[in-house]
Amino acid sequence: MIKGIFPVDKFRNIRTPFYYYDIELLKKTLDTVKMESGKYGYHVHYAVKANANPYLLSLIASYGFGADCVSGGEVQAALEAGFSADKIVFAGVGKADWEIDLGLDNHIFCFNVESAVELDVINELAAEKGKVASVALRVNPEVDAHTHAKITTGMKENKFGINLSLLNGVLDKFEVLKNVKLIGIHFHIGSQITDMTPFQDLAIRLNEILDQLEKRGIAVANVNFGGGLGIDYYHPNHLSIPAFDTYFAAFDRLLKLRPGQQVHFEPGRSIVGQCGSLISKVLYVKEGETKKFAVMDAGFTELIRPAMYDAYHRMENITSEEEPERYDVVGPICESSDVFGKEIELNRARRGDLVAFRSAGAYGEVMASQYNCRQLPKAYFSDSL
Ligand code: LLP
Repeated sequence: MIKGIFPVDKFRNIRTPFYYYDIELLKKTLDTVKMESGKYGYHVHYAVKANANPYLLSLIASYGFGADCVSGGEVQAALEAGFSADKIVFAGVGKADWEIDLGLDNHIFCFNVESAVELDVINELAAEKGKVASVALRVNPEVDAHTHAKITTGMKENKFGINLSLLNGVLDKFEVLKNVKLIGIHFHIGSQITDMTPFQDLAIRLNEILDQLEKRGIAVANVNFGGGLGIDYYHPNHLSIPAFDTYFAAFDRLLKLRPGQQVHFEPGRSIVGQCGSLISKVLYVKEGETKKFAVMDAGFTELIRPAMYDAYHRMENITSEEEPERYDVVGPICESSDVFGKEIELNRARRGDLVAFRSAGAYGEVMASQYNCRQLPKAYFSDSL
Protein backbone atom coordinates (compact mmCIF):
# COMPACT_ATOMS: atom_id res chain seq x y z
CA MET A 1 0.00 0.00 0.00
CA ILE A 2 1.63 3.20 -1.21
CA LYS A 3 -0.04 5.64 1.13
CA GLY A 4 2.08 4.12 3.91
CA ILE A 5 4.93 6.38 2.89
CA PHE A 6 2.98 9.54 3.71
CA PRO A 7 2.04 10.74 7.23
CA VAL A 8 -1.55 11.34 6.12
CA ASP A 9 -2.87 12.16 9.60
CA LYS A 10 -0.37 14.97 9.94
CA PHE A 11 -1.20 16.23 6.46
CA ARG A 12 -4.81 16.84 7.50
CA ASN A 13 -3.83 19.89 9.56
CA ILE A 14 -1.79 21.51 6.80
CA ARG A 15 -3.21 23.92 4.28
CA THR A 16 -2.98 22.49 0.77
CA PRO A 17 -1.40 22.54 -1.73
CA PHE A 18 2.08 22.05 -0.30
CA TYR A 19 5.33 20.28 -1.07
CA TYR A 20 6.40 17.38 1.09
CA TYR A 21 9.98 16.11 1.12
CA ASP A 22 11.03 12.67 2.27
CA ILE A 23 14.34 13.57 3.89
CA GLU A 24 15.30 9.98 4.55
CA LEU A 25 15.10 9.23 0.83
CA LEU A 26 17.09 12.35 0.01
CA LYS A 27 19.81 11.30 2.44
CA LYS A 28 19.93 7.78 0.99
CA THR A 29 20.20 9.28 -2.48
CA LEU A 30 22.99 11.60 -1.40
CA ASP A 31 24.83 8.71 0.28
CA THR A 32 24.56 6.75 -2.98
CA VAL A 33 25.84 9.64 -5.09
CA LYS A 34 28.72 10.17 -2.72
CA MET A 35 29.69 6.52 -2.73
CA GLU A 36 29.36 5.97 -6.49
CA SER A 37 31.13 9.19 -7.52
CA GLY A 38 33.74 8.61 -4.83
CA LYS A 39 34.76 5.31 -6.45
CA TYR A 40 36.37 7.29 -9.26
CA GLY A 41 37.22 10.51 -7.43
CA TYR A 42 34.58 12.39 -9.46
CA HIS A 43 33.39 15.80 -8.23
CA VAL A 44 29.67 16.47 -7.90
CA HIS A 45 28.14 19.95 -8.10
CA TYR A 46 24.43 19.84 -7.32
CA ALA A 47 22.38 21.77 -9.92
CA VAL A 48 20.62 24.33 -7.74
CA LYS A 49 18.05 25.06 -10.42
CA ALA A 50 16.35 21.71 -9.75
CA ASN A 51 15.35 22.74 -6.25
CA ALA A 52 16.63 25.74 -4.31
CA ASN A 53 14.68 25.14 -1.11
CA PRO A 54 17.06 26.42 1.61
CA TYR A 55 16.69 23.39 3.87
CA LEU A 56 17.40 20.95 1.05
CA LEU A 57 20.30 23.08 -0.17
CA SER A 58 21.95 23.12 3.24
CA LEU A 59 21.48 19.38 3.61
CA ILE A 60 23.08 18.77 0.21
CA ALA A 61 25.91 21.20 1.03
CA SER A 62 26.57 19.31 4.28
CA TYR A 63 27.63 16.28 2.19
CA GLY A 64 30.52 18.31 0.83
CA PHE A 65 29.15 18.55 -2.71
CA GLY A 66 29.66 21.65 -4.82
CA ALA A 67 26.94 23.70 -6.51
CA ASP A 68 26.12 24.36 -10.15
CA CYS A 69 24.46 27.76 -10.49
CA VAL A 70 22.87 29.55 -13.43
CA SER A 71 22.20 32.98 -11.97
CA GLY A 72 23.50 35.42 -9.40
CA GLY A 73 20.52 34.53 -7.22
CA GLU A 74 21.54 30.88 -7.28
CA VAL A 75 25.16 31.73 -6.44
CA GLN A 76 23.84 33.73 -3.47
CA ALA A 77 21.52 30.92 -2.39
CA ALA A 78 24.33 28.37 -2.63
CA LEU A 79 26.69 30.50 -0.55
CA GLU A 80 23.99 31.11 2.06
CA ALA A 81 23.27 27.38 2.26
CA GLY A 82 26.92 26.67 3.04
CA PHE A 83 28.31 25.51 -0.30
CA SER A 84 31.93 26.42 -0.45
CA ALA A 85 32.72 29.07 -3.08
CA ASP A 86 35.63 27.06 -4.42
CA LYS A 87 33.16 24.34 -5.43
CA ILE A 88 30.69 26.63 -7.21
CA VAL A 89 30.45 26.54 -10.98
CA PHE A 90 28.46 29.23 -12.76
CA ALA A 91 26.88 28.50 -16.16
CA GLY A 92 24.28 30.29 -18.27
CA VAL A 93 24.09 31.77 -21.72
CA GLY A 94 23.29 35.27 -20.43
CA LYS A 95 25.23 36.32 -17.35
CA ALA A 96 24.66 39.95 -16.36
CA ASP A 97 27.63 42.06 -15.27
CA TRP A 98 26.53 42.11 -11.62
CA GLU A 99 26.29 38.31 -11.69
CA ILE A 100 29.80 37.97 -13.08
CA ASP A 101 31.03 40.46 -10.45
CA LEU A 102 29.37 38.41 -7.72
CA GLY A 103 31.22 35.32 -8.91
CA LEU A 104 34.51 37.18 -9.10
CA ASP A 105 34.09 38.77 -5.66
CA ASN A 106 33.40 35.39 -4.10
CA HIS A 107 36.22 33.60 -5.93
CA ILE A 108 33.99 30.87 -7.31
CA PHE A 109 35.68 27.80 -8.75
CA CYS A 110 34.77 28.38 -12.35
CA PHE A 111 32.64 30.25 -14.89
CA ASN A 112 31.23 27.95 -17.54
CA VAL A 113 31.48 30.24 -20.54
CA GLU A 114 29.03 29.86 -23.39
CA SER A 115 30.34 32.26 -26.07
CA ALA A 116 33.31 34.29 -27.28
CA VAL A 117 31.59 37.57 -26.35
CA GLU A 118 30.97 36.37 -22.82
CA LEU A 119 34.67 35.53 -22.52
CA ASP A 120 35.54 39.12 -23.50
CA VAL A 121 33.15 40.52 -20.88
CA ILE A 122 34.44 38.29 -18.08
CA ASN A 123 37.99 39.24 -19.02
CA GLU A 124 37.10 42.93 -18.89
CA LEU A 125 35.28 42.72 -15.53
CA ALA A 126 38.06 40.62 -14.01
CA ALA A 127 40.66 43.12 -15.25
CA GLU A 128 38.78 45.95 -13.51
CA LYS A 129 39.19 44.05 -10.27
CA GLY A 130 42.77 43.02 -10.96
CA LYS A 131 41.72 39.37 -10.96
CA VAL A 132 42.08 36.37 -13.21
CA ALA A 133 38.82 34.43 -13.66
CA SER A 134 38.94 30.67 -14.03
CA VAL A 135 36.78 29.57 -16.92
CA ALA A 136 35.67 26.37 -18.58
CA LEU A 137 34.36 26.49 -22.12
CA ARG A 138 30.91 25.03 -22.51
CA VAL A 139 31.14 23.15 -25.76
CA ASN A 140 28.08 22.12 -27.67
CA PRO A 141 29.07 18.53 -28.43
CA GLU A 142 26.38 17.81 -31.02
CA VAL A 143 25.25 14.75 -29.13
CA ASP A 144 21.55 14.01 -29.34
CA ALA A 145 20.11 13.35 -25.89
CA HIS A 146 16.89 11.88 -27.34
CA THR A 147 14.85 13.63 -24.70
CA HIS A 148 12.00 16.16 -24.78
CA ALA A 149 12.68 18.90 -27.35
CA LYS A 150 12.25 21.60 -24.71
CA ILE A 151 14.94 20.16 -22.47
CA THR A 152 17.55 19.07 -25.00
CA THR A 153 20.57 21.35 -25.20
CA GLY A 154 23.47 19.63 -26.90
CA MET A 155 22.62 20.15 -30.58
CA LYS A 156 23.88 22.78 -33.02
CA GLU A 157 20.57 24.62 -33.14
CA ASN A 158 20.36 25.09 -29.36
CA LYS A 159 21.34 28.44 -27.88
CA PHE A 160 23.73 26.81 -25.43
CA GLY A 161 27.47 26.38 -25.60
CA ILE A 162 30.16 27.00 -28.18
CA ASN A 163 29.78 25.10 -31.45
CA LEU A 164 32.53 22.57 -32.10
CA SER A 165 33.45 24.35 -35.32
CA LEU A 166 34.02 27.60 -33.41
CA LEU A 167 36.06 26.12 -30.57
CA ASN A 168 39.47 26.78 -32.09
CA GLY A 169 38.71 30.46 -32.53
CA VAL A 170 37.66 30.81 -28.90
CA LEU A 171 40.78 28.97 -27.76
CA ASP A 172 42.90 31.52 -29.67
CA LYS A 173 41.49 34.28 -27.50
CA PHE A 174 43.22 32.96 -24.41
CA GLU A 175 46.54 33.96 -25.93
CA VAL A 176 45.41 37.58 -25.89
CA LEU A 177 43.06 37.87 -22.92
CA LYS A 178 45.10 38.11 -19.75
CA ASN A 179 42.37 38.07 -17.09
CA VAL A 180 40.82 34.72 -17.93
CA LYS A 181 42.40 31.35 -17.46
CA LEU A 182 41.20 28.20 -19.22
CA ILE A 183 40.75 25.47 -16.63
CA GLY A 184 38.25 23.15 -18.24
CA ILE A 185 35.83 21.91 -20.83
CA HIS A 186 32.15 21.76 -19.93
CA PHE A 187 29.09 20.11 -21.49
CA HIS A 188 25.43 19.66 -20.71
CA ILE A 189 23.42 17.77 -23.32
CA GLY A 190 19.94 17.81 -21.82
CA SER A 191 17.81 16.53 -19.02
CA GLN A 192 15.73 13.45 -18.09
CA ILE A 193 18.05 11.13 -20.04
CA THR A 194 17.46 7.52 -19.06
CA ASP A 195 19.35 5.73 -21.82
CA MET A 196 23.12 5.64 -21.29
CA THR A 197 23.97 5.94 -25.00
CA PRO A 198 24.04 9.76 -25.15
CA PHE A 199 26.35 9.84 -22.13
CA GLN A 200 28.63 7.30 -23.78
CA ASP A 201 28.66 9.41 -26.95
CA LEU A 202 29.54 12.41 -24.82
CA ALA A 203 32.50 10.65 -23.18
CA ILE A 204 33.80 9.70 -26.62
CA ARG A 205 33.34 13.26 -27.87
CA LEU A 206 35.35 14.53 -24.92
CA ASN A 207 38.20 12.17 -25.81
CA GLU A 208 38.21 13.61 -29.33
CA ILE A 209 38.26 17.17 -28.00
CA LEU A 210 41.13 16.36 -25.64
CA ASP A 211 43.12 15.06 -28.62
CA GLN A 212 42.34 18.24 -30.51
CA LEU A 213 43.49 20.36 -27.57
CA GLU A 214 46.63 18.29 -27.16
CA LYS A 215 47.57 18.93 -30.78
CA ARG A 216 47.50 22.63 -29.96
CA GLY A 217 49.55 22.06 -26.80
CA ILE A 218 46.61 22.88 -24.54
CA ALA A 219 45.99 20.88 -21.38
CA VAL A 220 42.87 21.41 -19.27
CA ALA A 221 42.73 20.42 -15.63
CA ASN A 222 38.97 19.77 -15.54
CA VAL A 223 36.23 18.17 -17.58
CA ASN A 224 32.59 18.64 -16.63
CA PHE A 225 29.74 16.58 -18.09
CA GLY A 226 26.86 18.62 -16.67
CA GLY A 227 23.71 16.91 -15.48
CA GLY A 228 20.92 15.07 -17.21
CA LEU A 229 20.53 11.67 -15.57
CA GLY A 230 16.82 10.89 -15.54
CA ILE A 231 14.50 9.40 -12.95
CA ASP A 232 11.68 6.87 -13.23
CA TYR A 233 8.48 8.91 -13.09
CA TYR A 234 6.41 5.75 -13.50
CA HIS A 235 7.84 3.79 -10.57
CA PRO A 236 8.74 6.26 -7.83
CA ASN A 237 8.27 3.64 -5.13
CA HIS A 238 10.34 0.83 -6.61
CA LEU A 239 13.02 2.83 -8.36
CA SER A 240 13.42 5.74 -6.01
CA ILE A 241 17.20 6.05 -6.39
CA PRO A 242 18.54 6.41 -9.95
CA ALA A 243 21.30 4.10 -11.19
CA PHE A 244 24.25 6.29 -10.29
CA ASP A 245 26.49 3.21 -10.39
CA THR A 246 25.80 2.55 -14.08
CA TYR A 247 26.01 6.24 -14.88
CA PHE A 248 29.44 6.95 -13.42
CA ALA A 249 30.78 3.57 -14.56
CA ALA A 250 29.86 4.44 -18.17
CA PHE A 251 32.16 7.45 -18.04
CA ASP A 252 34.91 5.61 -16.22
CA ARG A 253 34.91 2.89 -18.86
CA LEU A 254 35.21 5.23 -21.83
CA LEU A 255 37.15 8.30 -20.73
CA LYS A 256 40.76 8.65 -21.75
CA LEU A 257 41.85 11.25 -19.27
CA ARG A 258 45.22 12.95 -19.16
CA PRO A 259 47.20 12.64 -15.94
CA GLY A 260 45.74 14.65 -13.08
CA GLN A 261 42.57 15.61 -14.96
CA GLN A 262 39.56 16.03 -12.67
CA VAL A 263 36.04 14.96 -13.67
CA HIS A 264 32.94 16.92 -12.63
CA PHE A 265 29.17 16.40 -12.85
CA GLU A 266 26.16 18.62 -12.22
CA PRO A 267 23.20 16.37 -11.34
CA GLY A 268 19.95 18.04 -10.34
CA ARG A 269 16.84 15.99 -11.01
CA SER A 270 18.49 12.67 -10.15
CA ILE A 271 19.30 13.95 -6.65
CA VAL A 272 16.07 15.64 -5.59
CA GLY A 273 13.43 14.39 -8.02
CA GLN A 274 12.05 11.41 -6.14
CA CYS A 275 12.10 12.81 -2.60
CA GLY A 276 9.43 15.45 -3.28
CA SER A 277 5.67 15.23 -3.72
CA LEU A 278 3.09 17.90 -4.24
CA ILE A 279 0.14 17.27 -1.93
CA SER A 280 -3.15 18.67 -3.11
CA LYS A 281 -6.79 18.41 -2.10
CA VAL A 282 -9.72 17.38 -4.28
CA LEU A 283 -12.01 20.42 -4.36
CA TYR A 284 -14.75 18.85 -6.43
CA VAL A 285 -15.48 15.76 -8.41
CA LYS A 286 -17.21 17.20 -11.41
CA GLU A 287 -19.29 14.88 -13.55
CA GLY A 288 -19.17 15.83 -17.23
CA GLU A 289 -21.21 14.23 -19.96
CA THR A 290 -18.48 11.79 -20.90
CA LYS A 291 -15.87 12.35 -18.23
CA LYS A 292 -15.27 12.78 -14.58
CA PHE A 293 -12.99 15.58 -13.52
CA ALA A 294 -11.10 15.63 -10.26
CA VAL A 295 -10.69 19.36 -9.70
CA MET A 296 -7.67 19.92 -7.48
CA ASP A 297 -6.63 22.90 -5.40
CA ALA A 298 -3.17 22.75 -7.05
CA GLY A 299 -2.66 23.91 -10.58
CA PHE A 300 0.22 24.61 -12.92
CA THR A 301 1.14 27.42 -10.57
CA GLU A 302 2.44 24.75 -8.17
CA LEU A 303 3.60 22.13 -10.70
CA ILE A 304 4.07 23.36 -14.22
CA ARG A 305 5.79 20.33 -15.77
CA PRO A 306 2.64 18.61 -17.14
CA ALA A 307 1.39 21.84 -18.77
CA MET A 308 4.80 22.91 -20.02
CA TYR A 309 6.39 19.66 -21.18
CA ASP A 310 3.47 17.21 -21.21
CA ALA A 311 5.36 15.57 -18.37
CA TYR A 312 3.89 12.66 -16.49
CA HIS A 313 3.74 12.63 -12.70
CA ARG A 314 2.25 9.63 -10.96
CA MET A 315 -0.88 10.63 -9.02
CA GLU A 316 -2.12 8.76 -5.97
CA ASN A 317 -5.20 9.33 -3.88
CA ILE A 318 -3.59 8.82 -0.48
CA THR A 319 -6.81 9.08 1.54
CA SER A 320 -9.02 6.60 -0.28
CA GLU A 321 -9.05 2.83 -0.40
CA GLU A 322 -12.07 2.63 -2.65
CA GLU A 323 -12.04 0.94 -6.06
CA PRO A 324 -10.15 2.99 -8.67
CA GLU A 325 -11.97 5.10 -11.22
CA ARG A 326 -10.78 7.21 -14.13
CA TYR A 327 -10.56 10.98 -13.91
CA ASP A 328 -9.19 13.90 -15.81
CA VAL A 329 -7.16 15.52 -13.06
CA VAL A 330 -7.24 19.28 -13.47
CA GLY A 331 -6.29 22.43 -11.58
CA PRO A 332 -8.23 25.60 -10.79
CA ILE A 333 -6.25 28.01 -13.01
CA CYS A 334 -8.20 29.80 -15.72
CA GLU A 335 -6.32 28.22 -18.61
CA SER A 336 -7.25 25.07 -20.48
CA SER A 337 -3.66 23.82 -20.26
CA ASP A 338 -4.09 23.47 -16.49
CA VAL A 339 -4.45 19.71 -16.71
CA PHE A 340 -2.28 17.24 -14.81
CA GLY A 341 -3.41 14.18 -16.69
CA LYS A 342 -6.30 12.64 -18.60
CA GLU A 343 -8.00 9.32 -17.85
CA ILE A 344 -5.92 8.88 -14.73
CA GLU A 345 -6.74 5.96 -12.49
CA LEU A 346 -7.21 7.10 -8.90
CA ASN A 347 -8.79 5.39 -5.95
CA ARG A 348 -12.35 6.72 -6.00
CA ALA A 349 -12.06 10.41 -5.25
CA ARG A 350 -14.31 12.48 -3.03
CA ARG A 351 -14.22 16.12 -2.03
CA GLY A 352 -11.49 16.63 0.56
CA ASP A 353 -9.33 13.65 -0.48
CA LEU A 354 -5.59 14.23 -0.69
CA VAL A 355 -3.75 13.43 -3.90
CA ALA A 356 0.04 13.11 -4.05
CA PHE A 357 1.78 14.14 -7.27
CA ARG A 358 4.90 12.06 -7.09
CA SER A 359 8.47 12.66 -8.28
CA ALA A 360 7.99 16.41 -7.97
CA GLY A 361 11.16 17.21 -6.04
CA ALA A 362 12.94 18.53 -9.12
CA TYR A 363 11.64 21.51 -11.11
CA GLY A 364 8.48 21.55 -8.99
CA GLU A 365 8.54 24.00 -6.09
CA VAL A 366 11.29 26.01 -7.75
CA MET A 367 9.18 26.65 -10.87
CA ALA A 368 6.05 27.66 -8.94
CA SER A 369 4.47 31.02 -9.77
CA GLN A 370 1.93 33.41 -8.34
CA TYR A 371 -0.18 33.62 -11.49
CA ASN A 372 -3.83 34.35 -10.65
CA CYS A 373 -2.56 36.02 -7.43
CA ARG A 374 -2.01 32.65 -5.85
CA GLN A 375 0.29 32.07 -2.92
CA LEU A 376 3.51 30.17 -3.42
CA PRO A 377 3.28 26.68 -1.93
CA LYS A 378 4.97 25.99 1.39
CA ALA A 379 7.32 23.08 1.98
CA TYR A 380 7.26 20.51 4.79
CA PHE A 381 9.86 17.92 5.64
CA SER A 382 9.52 14.37 6.91
CA ASP A 383 12.05 14.96 9.69
CA SER A 384 10.23 17.94 11.20
CA LEU A 385 6.51 17.23 10.76
N1 LLP B 1 23.87 21.66 -15.73
C1 LLP B 1 23.35 22.53 -16.61
C2 LLP B 1 24.23 23.44 -17.34
C3 LLP B 1 21.96 22.55 -16.85
O1 LLP B 1 21.45 23.40 -17.73
C4 LLP B 1 21.11 21.66 -16.13
C5 LLP B 1 19.66 21.65 -16.35
C6 LLP B 1 21.71 20.78 -15.20
C7 LLP B 1 23.09 20.80 -15.04
C8 LLP B 1 20.91 19.80 -14.39
O2 LLP B 1 20.28 18.87 -15.18
P1 LLP B 1 19.49 17.63 -14.51
O3 LLP B 1 20.52 16.75 -13.83
O4 LLP B 1 18.51 18.18 -13.54
O5 LLP B 1 18.85 16.98 -15.66
N2 LLP B 1 12.69 22.32 -16.10
C9 LLP B 1 12.96 21.13 -16.87
C10 LLP B 1 14.42 20.74 -16.81
C11 LLP B 1 15.36 21.82 -17.26
C12 LLP B 1 16.81 21.45 -17.11
C13 LLP B 1 17.68 22.62 -17.36
N3 LLP B 1 19.08 22.39 -17.19
C14 LLP B 1 12.06 20.02 -16.39
O6 LLP B 1 11.21 20.26 -15.52
O7 LLP B 1 12.13 18.88 -16.88
